[in-house]
Amino acid sequence: MKTFVLAVTGASAQILAERSIEILLNNNYNLHLVLSRGAYEVWLSEIGVKIPLDPIIQRNFWIERLNIKNGTLICHKWNENSACIASGSFKTNGMAIVPCSMGTLGRIAAGFSLNLIERCADVHLKEGRPLIIAPRETPLSLIHLRNMTTLLETGATIFPPIPAWYTSPKNIEEMVDFLVIRLFDTLGEDLAPLNRWAGPK
Ligand SMILES: Cc1cc2nc3c(=O)[nH]c(=O)nc-3n(C[C@H](O)[C@H](O)[C@H](O)COP(=O)(O)O)c2cc1C
Repeated sequence: MKTFVLAVTGASAQILAERSIEILLNNNYNLHLVLSRGAYEVWLSEIGVKIPLDPIIQRNFWIERLNIKNGTLICHKWNENSACIASGSFKTNGMAIVPCSMGTLGRIAAGFSLNLIERCADVHLKEGRPLIIAPRETPLSLIHLRNMTTLLETGATIFPPIPAWYTSPKNIEEMVDFLVIRLFDTLGEDLAPLNRWAGPK
């Protein structure tokens, strides 16, 4: 069973986080989930649902909401700095930050860890483990671009959640699936079937 950390921050596109949780658990992952303080606020704005703060209640919330039957889910609070995933000695197969706000991105690029998400990303970088960052902002300032360059140079994968149009998506769910599956492609995983480009018809 693979162990993976999924962090969700206060950027737009929370639907990508929800589908990532679902796909990872359906693929029998041991998933550690951390939402930043901002993520709770943006989730409420975008999806209209209040996510429980308590880690055990939140775990049950996801399992019921997504009808999860596989994998294991452990939820952490953003300020739980003594969590297992805050240490390099705790082994994982990687981490993704989906979506990633410019605030979190900048603090990770500066090595300035204020919460569990930033510390855990710092750990993945120092340990040379996969770290996938899905930055969500538009337009991008020079500061954002420099921070992304720093993270790319340090070993992270920068995966802007930009939809593909060549698949002719019929709805938002198809766009979301394309992005989430392509994001985990970068880990060498094939988590769900995808209508992949096979040349012009
Ligand atoms: C509805 C809503 C949407 C937001 N979208 C974004 C976004 O797409 N990108 C971003 O960098 N910040 C966005 N923000 C601002 C962040 O939530 C804010 O900077 C927050 O402090 C980020 O904290 P975090 O990185 O710890 O989650 C949004 C805020 C709200 C309320």
